[in-house]
Amino acid sequence: MLTIRSVPYLGRILAPSLAEAASKYLAAASWDRRRMLHTRVNEKTLFDYMSQGIDVNLKMGTPPETLLRRSNEYMKKAALHRLEKPDAPCLFQYGPEAGDLRFRQELSHFLSQEYMDPVQVDDIIVTAGATQGLAMLANLLFSPGDLVFVEDPTYFIGLQALRQDCGLHCVPVPMDENGIIPEELEQYLKERSSIKPREIGGRKPFWSMLYLIPTFHNPTGVCLSATRCRRVVQIARKYNLLVVCDDVYNLLAFSQDEESALQRKRLFAYDDPGDPDYSGNVVSNASFSKLFGPGLRLGWLEAPLCVRNVILSSGLAFSGGGLNHFTSGLMTSIISEGLLQKHLTEARAMYKVQCEAVCSVLQEKLPSAMFTIPEGGYFLWLKLPKPLKGSDVVQQCEKNLKITCFAGDIASPEANFDDYVRISFSYYEADVLKAAMVKFSDLINSMLHES
Ligand SMILES: Cc1ncc(COP(=O)(O)O)c(C=O)c1O
Repeated sequence: MLTIRSVPYLGRILAPSLAEAASKYLAAASWDRRRMLHTRVNEKTLFDYMSQGIDVNLKMGTPPETLLRRSNEYMKKAALHRLEKPDAPCLFQYGPEAGDLRFRQELSHFLSQEYMDPVQVDDIIVTAGATQGLAMLANLLFSPGDLVFVEDPTYFIGLQALRQDCGLHCVPVPMDENGIIPEELEQYLKERSSIKPREIGGRKPFWSMLYLIPTFHNPTGVCLSATRCRRVVQIARKYNLLVVCDDVYNLLAFSQDEESALQRKRLFAYDDPGDPDYSGNVVSNASFSKLFGPGLRLGWLEAPLCVRNVILSSGLAFSGGGLNHFTSGLMTSIISEGLLQKHLTEARAMYKVQCEAVCSVLQEKLPSAMFTIPEGGYFLWLKLPKPLKGSDVVQQCEKNLKITCFAGDIASPEANFDDYVRISFSYYEADVLKAAMVKFSDLINSMLHES
């Protein structure tokens, strides 16, 4: 029998008669069912949406198929290795809030070697990837209307998560080839430091967030210099900022020599607990998406105690246990059996060759465009020769070449950089990239002649 209590819509529909209310309910319910059906049958991925009618999609910052096949091969081995252990059924249970201890131990050992800097097991909290980590930090530690300072340009989906999903108010700060400019940041902070958006303390101890991509930045590919890292930490302490670093490309440096590894020390390591004015202002928000495969939805935070306390005592952690417990269990074996190391060595070599393929063609065929040669990561940020606009170039490329990339203004909170494009070199093999870049350069040269 249909009772009013079982029909949630009825309470909300102000109808003169029960019959009218019931018919409105049924119409609404059928619309809802149609919508659900639509959601269920829609199996397109982000990649499909971005590739319609396109042969070479240079928008996608994702690993190539060759590497994903390798991930598949390694994961089969790891699954057998891990699931044959007597305690394997525990992986199907809720996990500890911070994540599986064995996984965090393996990961901290691995990262300490890779970063050439100690990573503490206790600092690590497992996440479902960097996007989830960012949203969790923004939602738990900040309130809608709070300020978030971001590099201009920045990762456009990070921007969407902060602005649209969390309701934060974004303040773009200029950057150059050495990352965010601390003097500019401080000027912006001085201008706004009198703003008191809410009570500060308890579960919301920071005045504001600074969202950064300090290493192999998306979209520019540059790294925050060591001097600036030190300065950013001082500023964060002075103005009570939480600096959230998207550290998703840090391990994808093309050169593994010690000197460059030290130069790329992550910002988290500059916030030294031994400093007299230390209070814990930096989080490293990292992920396996670019290292092993985005489908894993697995990442980790290194976070100071004040941040860990808030996350680990949240309803999210308490109800769900550790995020992505099962997958992290399999990744434990990937790391302990040396497969992640092997995979990374292959990945770095591939990305280096692919990046060189793009750079060499652009240098030869399009000398009027400007770019900094990336030393790691996924992206090349190309300044177009005047008077070309990124959106026109992308439109012409799609129409005439079936090649696409991002127009630069997408990465800016205020739609700056309309004379740039972002080219991702991660997905295609070098010969495909070279052929695409030759066509791309010819098209730009012809647009220049016509302008
Ligand atoms: C800077 C940055 N952060 C986060 C992500 C997404 O990371 P995840 O897949 O771990 O959510 C990306 C992917 O392009 C990125 O470039």
